[in-house]
Amino acid sequence: MPAVVVVGLQWGDEGKGKITDFWAEKADCVVRFQGGNNAGHTVIAGGKKYKFHLLPSGVIREKEAVIGNGVVVDPEVLLEELAALGQAGITPHMHISDRAHVIMPYHRWLDGAEENLLGNQKIGTTRRGIGPCYADKISRFGIRMDDLTDPEGLREKLHRIVPIKQALLDALGIEKKLNVDDLHALCTRWGTELQEYIEDTTLFLNALLERKKTVLFEGAQGCLLDIDFGTYPYVTSSNPVAGGAATGTGVGPRRLDSVLGILKAYTTRVGEGPFPTELRDEAGDHLVDRGQEYGTTTGRKRRCGWLDLVAARYACRVNGVDEIALTKLDVLDGLDTVRVCTTYTCDGKKRDQFPASLSVLSRCRPHYEDMEGWNSTAGITSYEKLPAAARRYVERVSQHLGVPISVISTGPSREETIWHP
Ligand code: GDP
Ligand code: IMO
Ligand code: MG
Repeated sequence: MPAVVVVGLQWGDEGKGKITDFWAEKADCVVRFQGGNNAGHTVIAGGKKYKFHLLPSGVIREKEAVIGNGVVVDPEVLLEELAALGQAGITPHMHISDRAHVIMPYHRWLDGAEENLLGNQKIGTTRRGIGPCYADKISRFGIRMDDLTDPEGLREKLHRIVPIKQALLDALGIEKKLNVDDLHALCTRWGTELQEYIEDTTLFLNALLERKKTVLFEGAQGCLLDIDFGTYPYVTSSNPVAGGAATGTGVGPRRLDSVLGILKAYTTRVGEGPFPTELRDEAGDHLVDRGQEYGTTTGRKRRCGWLDLVAARYACRVNGVDEIALTKLDVLDGLDTVRVCTTYTCDGKKRDQFPASLSVLSRCRPHYEDMEGWNSTAGITSYEKLPAAARRYVERVSQHLGVPISVISTGPSREETIWHP
């Protein structure tokens, strides 16, 4: 399959980094198509741990690495990641879209200020400036990567944009003074340091696919954080669903061959918003502890709960998922009973569709199917060697979703993976 889209089916942190790296062995190129450094993707390979916020996880295998137009780029973070990779002796083959938008310092300040003003109604963002940067893109006040290498055009743009941003900072009570010369100097430095990578990546990607090369489209976040399909407004500001891979890279939708959905064997969520299967008991503690559920980007403790198949069915539908990688199965090891939510009850009525309305979702109570637990799956690399109860769990999940599970992950390392075609 030349063009494979990898997407998260829950609220992010499903293990997209690990599975992208695993799959990337067969790929020529890995491309990020949305989000920014709100993402935190972990890869453990050769005994080393890598955490990527902007770089596609395929860089470790020295594959072609593309940051598509749909991504919002904080150049400072990108330069840090490139430097860290260099120190690890890895040479990335970078291509950055000239159309990708740039996260400016004022985007971060605005993100923080908006969250503070929302008080206990806050979204719980990563405060990386993601929302304000995408808002500027849509409002047509954005700075793009190509502007960084065009000093004259950049100065004109800054003169147009800065007074509006200053007015906003003042109105929100943020004591920062923007200066066109300083911002210009910052942007041109970024431009100088990154110019060798900035190009029309639509040419590069479409040429690869023309030559039947394999390209992985690495999603960030997950379906339930999607700006359209997620639990709005407790979402991120981009389209992590598979459709975003086309608009976020300039590869036509008919060129995308298949969609691989990443599903954690239970559910986690960072930040605010309703979460029907959330656990606040011993089983929840088990998931946090065994799963080491602390955010890769912000270090926040992730909220944990049982696998929600109502939400997962919805995610499979809106992403058009062809196959699933089921991750972190080992985290359920040692439980007497494991549960999956198959339907909700809302206002006394059974409900099997994931609602658009947050107030409906927050009244949904999970209905569980209980299954026998198992002792250990940790590190197992062949399907036949899994305990029978764990195999039943995998098969039941696949049956409920009507989608084959082709990869099962039993530990954080690259090797701790079962290929189950
Ligand atoms: P991503 O954002 O979807 O790439 O996921 P993160 O990297 O933020 O979070 C997943 C975490 O689980 C990371 O710490 C991974 O190293 C770890 N992980 C991935 N797959 C497995 C697995 O199968 N078992 C265990 N125990 N940990 C895993
Ligand atoms: P990966 O790619 C989990 C969440 C934030 C917050 C909401 C909005 O590692 O799966 P934002 O900063 O994007 O405006 O925050 O989205 N969020 C994530 N949660 N994994 C992520 O990325 C996330 N990226 C954003 O916690 O609730
Ligand atoms: Mg993550």
